[in-house]
Amino acid sequence: MEKKITVLPGDGIGPEVVASAVRVLQAIGKRYNHKFHLSYAVIGGTAIDEFNNPLPDETIAICKESDAILLGAVGGPKWDNNPPELRPEKGLLKIRKTFDLFANLRPVKAFPSLLGASPLKREVAENVDLMIVRELTGGIYFGEKHRTDNEASDLNIYTRKEIERIVDNAFEMARLRKGRLCSVDKANVLETSRLWRQVVEEKKEQYPDVKVEHNLVDSVAMKLITNPEHFDVVVTDNMFGDILSDEASVITGSLGVLPSASIRGDHFGLYEPIHGSAPDIAGQGKANPAATILSVAMMLRYSFGLKEEATEIERAVSAVFNDGYFTADLAKDGSRSLSTNEWTDRVIIEI
Ligand code: NAI
Ligand code: MG
Repeated sequence: MEKKITVLPGDGIGPEVVASAVRVLQAIGKRYNHKFHLSYAVIGGTAIDEFNNPLPDETIAICKESDAILLGAVGGPKWDNNPPELRPEKGLLKIRKTFDLFANLRPVKAFPSLLGASPLKREVAENVDLMIVRELTGGIYFGEKHRTDNEASDLNIYTRKEIERIVDNAFEMARLRKGRLCSVDKANVLETSRLWRQVVEEKKEQYPDVKVEHNLVDSVAMKLITNPEHFDVVVTDNMFGDILSDEASVITGSLGVLPSASIRGDHFGLYEPIHGSAPDIAGQGKANPAATILSVAMMLRYSFGLKEEATEIERAVSAVFNDGYFTADLAKDGSRSLSTNEWTDRVIIEI
């Protein structure tokens, strides 16, 4: 297989973790005989410095020519006082909008060797393997806003079409996984939620092999902490998904190991770790590259249909943790930690 990938290293630790992920990608290409052609471009603060624009047209043009995008992270104190249009995160919002990446996928899977860092008891967290599918381009964050000194409103609008495409995506995801789908809403009070629930009910006829349940968002917020093992695929709207995905991300104990994807119907997608640019450790070789390496695995699986290769990356990462190799963020007291590059070397040896 031959694929074109646009690489957007971004700011802070972005370039370090992306360099590691690219090395792993090339190792997979070598072992399974695929050619991955990489084009590099700028986004975020680095793009502001060079082009006075967090997402320059040059970058968009390069992304349009490719089959998928790999992103590090954006932002840092240098740009914190910039005006809104010249903020690094503006580049992220714009790239999602430009490419209509309406489905945000956030898997959360426990690594047994990392559970010491989880705020939950080991027996509650150890079998967690869930995926939150969040609608990313509609809903209350994009609705009309109104504000006076005495009153403010945010409009929450969902069209049937917007709901159908995210729900289809989630059903397909459930099929690829354990065949269970939990749709999350607030149908006891919100009209948007009642339409959402209706669409899920209609759609489930097309996916008789998937077991569907509806759940209210407040109840899911509790269940994620008391019984996270219950969930396989969770599908929800933009705002509920924003909150639940952050809640779910702490279950397994480490920010540095969680990947994500933002995709659309034709499998084009943007893959990135969920963590930020970590300016406090940037340039020191301390960053944990696991989240970005696992984002590459997601790219192989969801954009390229390369399941075996994706699973091999996930297996290798897990094996390196099991062998007791950690970067500084996860190293247990007194044990030696590996640098970003040394840890990546272990993963490549494993592959
Ligand atoms: P952060 O995720 O960058 O860092 C939070 C803490 O976790 C820091 O102590 C950091 O050192 C540590 N950390 C994060 N990723 C790590 C990794 N891979 N290995 C080891 N340690 C890691 O979040 P923070 O500090 O709130 O934001 C820093 C900058 O990143 C800000 O400018 C923020 O706007 C931006 N940001 C960007 C995101 C993105 O590009 N998608 C997402 C979140 C924040
Ligand atoms: Mg958030």
